[in-house]
Amino acid sequence: MNLKAQKIIVTGASGRLGRELIPLLEAEGAIIEAPSSDICNIKESIVDTKWRKLYSFYHTPTLIIHCAAYTDVTGAETDRASAIDLNIMGTMNVAKLARYYKAKLIHISSDYVTYQPMGMYAFTKLAAEAFASPEDMVVRTSFKSRGTWGKNALTKVFHPVFTNADWVDIIAGKIVEAIKLDLTGIVNIGTERKLLKTLAQQEYPYVDTIPVQKADALVGYKYPRDCSMELTI
Ligand SMILES: NC(=O)c1ccc[n+]([C@@H]2O[C@H](COP(=O)([O-])OP(=O)(O)OC[C@H]3O[C@@H](n4cnc5c(N)ncnc54)[C@H](OP(=O)(O)O)[C@@H]3O)[C@@H](O)[C@H]2O)c1
Repeated sequence: MNLKAQKIIVTGASGRLGRELIPLLEAEGAIIEAPSSDICNIKESIVDTKWRKLYSFYHTPTLIIHCAAYTDVTGAETDRASAIDLNIMGTMNVAKLARYYKAKLIHISSDYVTYQPMGMYAFTKLAAEAFASPEDMVVRTSFKSRGTWGKNALTKVFHPVFTNADWVDIIAGKIVEAIKLDLTGIVNIGTERKLLKTLAQQEYPYVDTIPVQKADALVGYKYPRDCSMELTI
């Protein structure tokens, strides 16, 4: 798909991934509408509300890139209702909007959905995938913000943990590539399988390790030891 002049709605535009995606899409010539959660709360039934009216006069999008989510993985274990509301019901609402406009939904899922046993966050992300149609794209991926590890940031990493995660700017570029390739269905996006420690060491060579066996007790959810996937791109 040539993105030039394509009208795209991005949910979760203020988040880590949304902030990286938007300039890349604009550089391809796309026209972006990226409402904040104040204007467009995806927990509301969007098709029946002001959000639809807003877009009805603005434009008909051809793509909806759905990045908004409840991303507090630890919080999801105790505040299950919020995780379900935003990740499952919110995605259902966004998918309904996509159907209304006959737009392709690009649903950002997580590599955590591939790991067993599954915590509540992963469960809600997996359930949300069910709202995508076969012609939509479900992106299973993982990313970290640059600066996650450092002298004044995290100084430790769980070990051994295997992942295809990479820095968010790199993953955002690959998501745009997948959109341009018009991929559909479940699309696994990442870079080579590696230890999470190896990724951390790219920016902070002195990173210390915590045995992953201690992770569940420390983070409060079933911490995935190996989420590496067979990559699509
Ligand atoms: N971070 C990771 O390591 C990782 C890994 C794999 C997959 N993912 C997935 O990637 C996607 C993006 O993650 P991220 O890290 O960029 O998220 P993030 O930084 O936590 O941002 C979450 C976004 O969701 C929006 N949002 C929250 N409640 C909303 C509501 N009721 N209505 C509309 N928007 C709402 C927020 O907007 P406001 O600021 O306006 O509230 C914010 O833009 C998510 O689907 C996440 O599950 C993340």
